[in-house]
Amino acid sequence: MRRFAWASTALLLVLVTSTPPSSTALNAVELWPAAQSFYGTDNIGVGKPFTDLSAKWIWYHTTSLAYGSGLSVAALFTTTVTVSTAGGMQALLNIIADDVADVYVNGAPNFSATHGWSAGSYTDRPLTVDLVQGTNVLAINVRNVRGPGALLASLSTMDGRTVLARTDKSWEVHLQVL
Ligand SMILES: *[C@@H]1O[C@H](CO)[C@@H](O)[C@H](O)[C@H]1NC(C)=O
Repeated sequence: MRRFAWASTALLLVLVTSTPPSSTALNAVELWPAAQSFYGTDNIGVGKPFTDLSAKWIWYHTTSLAYGSGLSVAALFTTTVTVSTAGGMQALLNIIADDVADVYVNGAPNFSATHGWSAGSYTDRPLTVDLVQGTNVLAINVRNVRGPGALLASLSTMDGRTVLARTDKSWEVHLQVL
């Protein structure tokens, strides 16, 4: 355990001292499928607020529950969404995070989503976001107190029928020790 703690601390130091951030991008690590949520499934599943069961809970390494590090970590997860519709379009973002997720669309802050996994705690979602025609950058900065956390997100058309992006290992992640 001690050896692991040293190794992860060294990794974090390497990542936070390297610039520019894009040169240190890692791929996100998939923790669990949406419906195998460690946090419970009060809000996840057919007929519930979060219905995209192909989305994955992600973080930057597999020991999402290793709170023993004592570090407060922010992880910035990014993906791109290409829109062909002339004039752009609006989309719905469903999101659950441990603890707080600050959502940015093309660099503009849109919302801070806190938790969301327990019944009755999802009343402020889904978020409506504006996408431009062409390439959009969806960036979600997740802040967790005392150790690694987790993120589950799915971006869809307004009618919910077409998923435009969902969290999985294709997302990039940049780390920051707070
Ligand atoms: C998020 O973006 C949508 C679409 O532009 C906007 O209607 C909404 O007010 C934004 N929310 C915040 C908190 O900025």
